[in-house]
Amino acid sequence: MCGIIGYIGKKQAQPILLNGLKRLQYRGYDSTGLAVLDDKGLRRAPSLRIKKRAGKLNMLETAVAKRPLKGKLGISQVRWATHGVPNQVNAHPHWDCTGKIALVHNGIIENYEELKEDLLKQGHKFRSETDTEVLVHLIEKFYRGKLEKAVQQALKEVRGAYAIAVISKDEPEKLVGARFGSPLIASVGKEEGFLASDIPALLDYTKEVVLLEDEEIVVVTPGSLVVRNLQGKTLTKEKVKIRWDVAQAEKEGFPHFMLKEIHEQPQAIRSTLMGRIAESKDEIVLPELKSLEGFLASMQKIIIISCGTAWHAALVGKYMLESNVRIPVEVDISSEFRYRDPILDKKTLVVAITQSGETADTLAGLREAKTRGAKILSICNVLGSSIPRASDAVIYTHAGPEIAVASTKAYTSQLAVLYLFTLYLGGLRKALSAPKIKELILELERIPQCLEKLLESKKIILECARRYYHSFGFLYLGRTLNFPTALEGALKIKEISYIHAEGYGAGEMKHGPIALINPRLPVVCIAPESRVYDKMLSNIQEIRARKGIVISVATVDDKRIPHHSNHVIYIPKVKELFSPLLTVVPLQLLAYYIAAKRGCDIDQPKNLAKSVTVE
Ligand code: AGP
Repeated sequence: MCGIIGYIGKKQAQPILLNGLKRLQYRGYDSTGLAVLDDKGLRRAPSLRIKKRAGKLNMLETAVAKRPLKGKLGISQVRWATHGVPNQVNAHPHWDCTGKIALVHNGIIENYEELKEDLLKQGHKFRSETDTEVLVHLIEKFYRGKLEKAVQQALKEVRGAYAIAVISKDEPEKLVGARFGSPLIASVGKEEGFLASDIPALLDYTKEVVLLEDEEIVVVTPGSLVVRNLQGKTLTKEKVKIRWDVAQAEKEGFPHFMLKEIHEQPQAIRSTLMGRIAESKDEIVLPELKSLEGFLASMQKIIIISCGTAWHAALVGKYMLESNVRIPVEVDISSEFRYRDPILDKKTLVVAITQSGETADTLAGLREAKTRGAKILSICNVLGSSIPRASDAVIYTHAGPEIAVASTKAYTSQLAVLYLFTLYLGGLRKALSAPKIKELILELERIPQCLEKLLESKKIILECARRYYHSFGFLYLGRTLNFPTALEGALKIKEISYIHAEGYGAGEMKHGPIALINPRLPVVCIAPESRVYDKMLSNIQEIRARKGIVISVATVDDKRIPHHSNHVIYIPKVKELFSPLLTVVPLQLLAYYIAAKRGCDIDQPKNLAKSVTVE
């Protein structure tokens, strides 16, 4: 996700801003920029100087090396594109029509299209295709000489998530920030002040910060800061002492990016759903599919291609699409699809699911499908990457950059997009009634808070990791929508702890795996409340009858399963259709804690790359 920084004080702003961007690079980004109020001394009026570059930070550093931006007030950003491809024009900062106000933003403005339409009618001129730019024109619209007042009024018009830093050439003595749904911290030192998305950006200058809460606006001046709420009431804020070093701060105190990203899943799903559910709650809004609408209404088959974890998401997608939209769905591993001479035609939709957007086999499979006349939809986490660029349409997950090689928040965000797509198609093809769609949307919107609850209790998982981290293997069993969850749980433990594991459809036990059962092969059984619960319970009893060890994942208040399991990990009660969004999390954590016990290199497992860009 994006990272922003602001500085005001006695020192030149540019070096501080560039150093801060360097500290935020770990977040993943695709363009950078900074704005400095060039004070030129008393003789001439100050002017806003802005430099932006697509690509890596060194592109911006080279651009300003020749002619540094002079001034002691500035803002900057590393941008992770969500709306508007990653290029120089879309990079932040953005400025208003007068060139007097500049702004950087981290977040998503849900209602930016309607705001932009109104602003264009009022004569505002836009330069970029970003959602962010509407913010700076809204501030310009309300500006009457007090920047924080204009920010306050502008933010009342906005729906979505934001952390912003704003400066004006008419008020060189202040740096204004505000947040809702995206983190923002502030800090003041001797005759200077800072704003930043998170702590690493400021650690070289201060160890004491103020954490802003949602709907708070801060005015930073050299050596002081004032925080108010959106109603203008001044608030008292505690200073927080930072005890992390930079490496710890990048992981926000988590020991590994993987654990941080497991905990980011509630927010990743909220961001992915944001702006895509009608206020009436009975309709999914996916403008990115507008151009395909006619085709989607009449297509006759879907083939989903992907690799690894994305393939598991695809398998879940098959269940949800077929059961709710009644359209045939095939799922293929990309490396198989591209060589099997697949049967598809102009009535086929090929969906490519990929976190990185660069997986060679999936890109090749997509190209193969295009030559055979299929329409291509991609589900991807990286804006402007190769696979979306080669697709007819793309639905982006908004999980933010996924740093750990083992995919977690991207997986659940891919599922979230597949649920949105299922409900969208269900409405478009009249396979689901509006009341049914509304019932399912309300359940989908509950998931982030269910995940937060689930992430609070890890005691049983830690106990299982302590007991079984020496095991020579694991078996994961699931049925229907949670058969792919079994595959995903097995992959997680394999790729980060190097213990062999197999995911199986539980109904397959009698066809082979039951021969493996022994006390040294723990069996993880994914058995939430579902139509196949009793079948899962029978499988569990078969395992226990043969002295197997059973770790069950079950729905809270399940009174039967504890009698047949060695350990039970509970998930909150949720409709069966959405259970894969929850059942996978204990398996992610189990793999993580076992790998940690084994001293493995969790974020960068041996032999693995985050994106497999070669065959
Ligand atoms: C998942 O934890 C692995 N890192 C790997 O299987 C990954 O899912 C696969 O390589 C696909 O990557 P993509 O989603 O970027 O296409």
